Amino acid sequence: MSDTQRFTVTSALPYVNGPIHFGHLVGCFLPADMYVRYLRAMGHEVLYVCGSDENGMAITLRAMKEGISPREIIDKYHPLVKQSLSDIGISFDWYSRTSSRVHFDTAQEFFKVLDNKGLLHQQSGSQLFDPKYKQFLADRYVKGTCPKCGNPEAYGDQCERCGSSLNATDLIHPVSTLSGETPTLEQTNHWYFPLNEYEQWLREWILDGHTEWKTHVYGQVKSWLDAGLQPRAVTRDLEWGVPVPRTDAEGKVLYVWFDAPIGYISSTKEWAQAHGQDWEKWWKDPKTKLVHFIGKDNIVFHCIFFPAMLKAHGGFILPENVPANEFLNLEGEKFSTSRNWAVWLHEYLQEVPGKEDVLRFVLAFNMPESKDADFHWQDYMDRNNNELVAVFGNLANRVFVLLEKNFDQKIPLLGNLAQADQVFLDAAHGYPQRIGQAIERFRFKEALGEWMNLARMANKFLTDNEPWKSIKTDPSRAGTVLYLAAGALGILAVTAEPFLPFTSSKLRDALGIQDWSWKDLATHKLRPGAPIHNPGHLFHLIDQSFVEEQKQKLMTKSAAVAAVAQAIAPSKQEIQYEDFSKLDLRIGTIVSAERIPKADKLLKLQVDLGQETRTVVSGIAAHYTPEEVVGRQVSLLVNLAPRKLRGVDSQGMILMAEDAGGKLVFVAPGTAVNNGSTIS
Ligand code: 2FM
Ligand code: ZN
Repeated sequence: MSDTQRFTVTSALPYVNGPIHFGHLVGCFLPADMYVRYLRAMGHEVLYVCGSDENGMAITLRAMKEGISPREIIDKYHPLVKQSLSDIGISFDWYSRTSSRVHFDTAQEFFKVLDNKGLLHQQSGSQLFDPKYKQFLADRYVKGTCPKCGNPEAYGDQCERCGSSLNATDLIHPVSTLSGETPTLEQTNHWYFPLNEYEQWLREWILDGHTEWKTHVYGQVKSWLDAGLQPRAVTRDLEWGVPVPRTDAEGKVLYVWFDAPIGYISSTKEWAQAHGQDWEKWWKDPKTKLVHFIGKDNIVFHCIFFPAMLKAHGGFILPENVPANEFLNLEGEKFSTSRNWAVWLHEYLQEVPGKEDVLRFVLAFNMPESKDADFHWQDYMDRNNNELVAVFGNLANRVFVLLEKNFDQKIPLLGNLAQADQVFLDAAHGYPQRIGQAIERFRFKEALGEWMNLARMANKFLTDNEPWKSIKTDPSRAGTVLYLAAGALGILAVTAEPFLPFTSSKLRDALGIQDWSWKDLATHKLRPGAPIHNPGHLFHLIDQSFVEEQKQKLMTKSAAVAAVAQAIAPSKQEIQYEDFSKLDLRIGTIVSAERIPKADKLLKLQVDLGQETRTVVSGIAAHYTPEEVVGRQVSLLVNLAPRKLRGVDSQGMILMAEDAGGKLVFVAPGTAVNNGSTIS
């Protein structure tokens, strides 16, 4: 990317049905922010927009849970989310909300254009309905047994165990997640967008035209297209959201996935109004590059649905790239809002003040760019101590202290360069371009790795040349070494902007190089005699006790939620003794265990039941390694009809209970009994 270009960059609008956690941050905000900070530093024209997603069932559901109105929910969480993103340095040009007037107008206008073109057709059909809450249920809010793999926890839109995409009406024993009741099927009518008609065009545009997109994004798009696209309803029966702009659509609102991406356009319009600028060039000029940063659960909406809407409307540019991230786990487990297995951004900012850049650094190093990744507090401490403090901070500290003590807080003179000095200088000048190119390819981990390599090289240069010794014998040599080290620190300061913006700014001030641009880093030179000031330690060591404290806090918070959840688990319907006596429950011993390839949660067990040994597939792999379970006595339901799970015939079910921390524990006899003993 050499000449100046124009970019419209977006981050997925977060639902403000709660605060945001590290998983959200690393998914679509941090990468976008690193990207735009780099583009701006390169002198490109950039508009970075986002806003709160305030419509749809995510909001109404939360309102029901908290017993307040949807308006109160969004007014509670919008400011919290906006503030925490700003505090961690996400540099939006505009952060809007989809409850704004401008958004309502823009979304309704968009619908009208499609409607006036005759593209939307009305169709009636039956949909699941919650009889208690008297409302139709979005697929996501229905749970039940997956018809493909038997997972009893499948969502109405997708089974997370086998990955099948589903319709809520496909589920066996569907249950409303709102009320816990069995939904009924009711008739309703909606307006449908003919997504199927865009299939061929999408194939050409993405599958032929965008082979450079991330493999997992491209792959997901391809599998959607290969499965065939269906018309999609763009309206919903809900009291909350953007009303459908038709006189015959009373009580209906736009589907949240229709209006939310239009939120990017409304946010741009608001920015333009506030700045007396034109919004259209950011969305309609073919020279503008549109880039959407999202999490992988949003791929279909940004690569298929929204582009088809833009194409159908006409006049809009299409995304140049959609560099979706995969998911981040926390200490080995999925983030879960309901289990409170999360680190909330606003809490981190409050409890660990002044460490915004540390978090950005650690998250950027663990970015789930092409596969799921994991955040561990231990890694947070190690990277802080071993990289930020021991390498980068140490380099900066030594340079500033030596300049302060020996050169009157001024940049020294550059003397003759030894050959090794020249090699160092040339190598340092090669980094900005390499870091930039990695960012342009959305390889943030690689970019940060390069940046760290430069810090290591500069730190080693200083250690090898020992200016603290030569200052006594050859001050001019010490000056040259410090000049070169300070120059490398300058390059590090400028190229730190995407990753460590707070530190970058502090360091540029300290070195007096606010005017250095990324593009010209190979030619910028420090001016001998120019004043500097010592910014003090940039980073501080973190103690092991901090890690233990954070881990403990996580366990305690999630255990508290689990305890409440357990306490309120509703009792089941009464049964007769005959019902119970149908169950053949026995004690057995696990004699061997192995993982099942590509099934993270399942273990294949052989259970000795005295007279026979059975194969049982059990969903305990997230809680136990195979080694941990061999030799244990367990309770087994032996007359459960066999089921095939991941190609393995499972002949029974092991009884488990959940402890307060959400871990599955075995239900086993207090003292050893014979294998095959019945439980009655
Ligand atoms: O998944 C989510 O959190 C959605 N609120 C993302 C919306 S992105 C866009 F389309 F606005
Ligand atoms: Zn399934």
